[in-house]
Amino acid sequence: MTTPTQETIVDFLADIFARRGAEAYLGEAVSMAEHMLQGAALAEAEGAGDELVAAALLHDIGHFTSEFGAYHPSDTEDKHHDEAGAAVLEPFFPPVVTECVRLHVAAKRFLCATDPAYFARLSRASAHTLSLRGGPMSQDEVAAFRRNPFHAQAVRVRLWDEEGKVAGRKTPDFAHYAPLLERVVRRHMREAHA
Ligand SMILES: [Fe+2]
Repeated sequence: MTTPTQETIVDFLADIFARRGAEAYLGEAVSMAEHMLQGAALAEAEGAGDELVAAALLHDIGHFTSEFGAYHPSDTEDKHHDEAGAAVLEPFFPPVVTECVRLHVAAKRFLCATDPAYFARLSRASAHTLSLRGGPMSQDEVAAFRRNPFHAQAVRVRLWDEEGKVAGRKTPDFAHYAPLLERVVRRHMREAHA
């Protein structure tokens, strides 16, 4: 495992998609890469900005925790892929991206508490992991979620996440998004060091 740098982070992510993308997205009819690429394509189709397309593309990157050395090798179950994904992206991507990744599980719990129609749209696997992660938010948790400055963006990413599970749907491949990711990283690193 090599630690990515500003120069290598996009290649690092591309490599994970290439080597591990075909893995099953547990309980869904699409692979991990298909799922994340569908999310990005939906964001793009809605005219979302670069940052949100990047967040949709990378929201589940924390499922590949072994690539980051973030967890003990004996971990068989990914319990906190939201936090792990945000942590690996954080040195290179702006807060709107890392927060959307970090909040994508919380956003599901938020939507289940605030939008009755949303729960009905969850896939069976998604409803199952909802229960593992605490079920719908309490009113206090809803209020706290709304205080996060990126909560509205996190909800948008969550909705693309939910829609991005269609078997056989054609999308652009990772290479299509690489220049966008490079742009987001460059912009952020420039601003962070200005
Ligand atoms: Fe997802």
